[in-house]
Amino acid sequence: MTEQLTIAMPKGRIFQEAAELLRKAGYRLPPEFDDSRKLIIDVEEENFRFILSKPMDVATYVEHGVADLGIAGKDVLLEEERDVYEVLDLKISGCYLAVAGLPGTKMNDVAPKVATKYPNVAAAYFREQGEQVEIIKLNGSIELAPLIGLSDRIVDIVSTGRTLKENGLVEYETITAITSRLIVNPVSYRIKDERISEIVNALSKVI
Ligand code: PRP
Repeated sequence: MTEQLTIAMPKGRIFQEAAELLRKAGYRLPPEFDDSRKLIIDVEEENFRFILSKPMDVATYVEHGVADLGIAGKDVLLEEERDVYEVLDLKISGCYLAVAGLPGTKMNDVAPKVATKYPNVAAAYFREQGEQVEIIKLNGSIELAPLIGLSDRIVDIVSTGRTLKENGLVEYETITAITSRLIVNPVSYRIKDERISEIVNALSKVI
């Protein structure tokens, strides 16, 4: 019997694409996998245990070793700088991080404000640009901030661009492209190396 692997999967947008990729790589995931409300799903045929977590928390589970592997957006990895190995670019859930705001507006000269779910990424970006800004951390619906006068700009994920468009916002700068990555706990990487390499190889073939 092969040793069990625990995999942290992000609930939400990435989940479906990640599950599809695992299936394409030959892993048999049961149909109920896709719309279950369970947070721990054992797939005995493959000796996998899946933990369904918030996207922002995947790397935390992997860093602490309660999951051997995880699928995490590069946005989260840039923001959190966790002690995990990023072993594969899965090339799914492509999007990018951008600076956006109301059209035809300049940043406030005196105390420019930037709202974001990614305070570290945003702070590093504006520091590199030589601009001093106040970062306001929000947990979602970031596009609200400039509409209601909370901030001059936002730093957020753009996927189809619909959210910006429907809220009358425009992009000012692109920060970086984002895809999902396969991450591994450093200890698991050593002690479960055979099974992990097997998954990395199987996934590499179908990316
Ligand atoms: C993300 C992101 C944008 C939106 C971009 O939010 O923060 O708001 O998706 O997608 P689009 O370019 O295709 O419109 P999400 O839906 O994950 O929810 P949130 O606002 O609660 O973070």
